[in-house]
Amino acid sequence: MAHRFLARPTDSKGESVPIRSLKDLPIAGRRVFCRVDFNVPLDGTTVTDDTRIRAALPTIEHILEEGGRLVLASHLGRPKGKRVPELSLEPAAQRLAELLGVGEVVLTDDCVGDGARKVVGDLRDGQVALLENLRFHPGEKANDEAFAKQLAAYADVYVNDAFGAAHRAHASVNALPKMIGLRGAGLLLEKELAALDKLRGEVQRPYVAVLGGAKVSDKIGVIEALLSRVNALVIGGAMANTFLAAQGRSLGASLVEDEKLALARSVIAKAEEKGVDLLLPTDLRVGESLEDTSAEVVGLDGVGGAQMALDIGPETEKVYADRVRKGGTVFWNGPMGLFENPAFAHGTTAVAEAMATCPGFTVVGGGDSVAAIQQAGLASRYDHVSTGGGASLEYMEGKKLPGVEALL
Ligand code: 3PG
Repeated sequence: MAHRFLARPTDSKGESVPIRSLKDLPIAGRRVFCRVDFNVPLDGTTVTDDTRIRAALPTIEHILEEGGRLVLASHLGRPKGKRVPELSLEPAAQRLAELLGVGEVVLTDDCVGDGARKVVGDLRDGQVALLENLRFHPGEKANDEAFAKQLAAYADVYVNDAFGAAHRAHASVNALPKMIGLRGAGLLLEKELAALDKLRGEVQRPYVAVLGGAKVSDKIGVIEALLSRVNALVIGGAMANTFLAAQGRSLGASLVEDEKLALARSVIAKAEEKGVDLLLPTDLRVGESLEDTSAEVVGLDGVGGAQMALDIGPETEKVYADRVRKGGTVFWNGPMGLFENPAFAHGTTAVAEAMATCPGFTVVGGGDSVAAIQQAGLASRYDHVSTGGGASLEYMEGKKLPGVEALL
């Protein structure tokens, strides 16, 4: 599949291409509104995982080095259009200041209004401020033009570096960039799309996709898209339970989406029709509670009435790891089990380790699988680790992302 994004505004043949890269935008002396995704996990007022802030640093540093007056904006959590003090971006501002090695990153009291206007107006070349949580205003989620206009007042140039939020048609992501002629993609957004575009284009085979997580319903779009592309679809996590139940297995007290059994059956049939190897667990690790400190390994017919399948079993683990290791291209989204509990982290760790040693092109798509590889200390061992959960899945599904479309 030919791809379209993020070449320079003119390519080597002098033809124009649609989205500008940050590196092609005039920055010096201009107010640059940069949408980032600082939706980071917090423990009170401490950022517990700063991956997303670090991932935006190349863009932030580029803008500051070029002498831009940088206005950063992000959402945090889902405050539903109201000010929720626990969802202030203050901890992110502090962490950013530490990473940039500056004393302080000014955080405005609100993302719009007199206070923010004054902070932005006082910025000098090479200085940065962060606007308070955009979602404290209902206009953000509503993609409201009037709200976007208020934000547009701060911007000579618009940069989107928030890949994690690119699937949201929200004001700072969608309505706002359309109001600013000088707009483009930040370095993170560019990198994310380039990696995922590689998966959507001609790939080295075998192409193996590993999908896990809780629900088939969350992943059905991407499963269907992948069935037309991959050689093998490897299924783990609680999602696998629904497939096993669809094949008539008793899963005891395991999480099973009973209303999705027909859907699971149709996926199994489609995989067969398309010649895709659909791999399901052949053994399981089970427990009676999520807090169990040890797991029992059982065959597919061995799940007791009070037991829950919480991880793939050792035999499955070997088969999955082997497939992953031999992949020419591997895409992984979603853990193989309840990896937060070490008793049920084996399957996820096995996939993470196999993927780390795979010589093919490897991409881990956002959310829990990223948390899992960080837990395993393997994050640097893949070709690409996406900062977007929902965004990477929607892009892999072939959907257009409102945050990317608005940059055209
Ligand atoms: C994410 O964490 O996936 C992004 O920041 C988007 O957040 P949202 O799902 O609350 O829109």
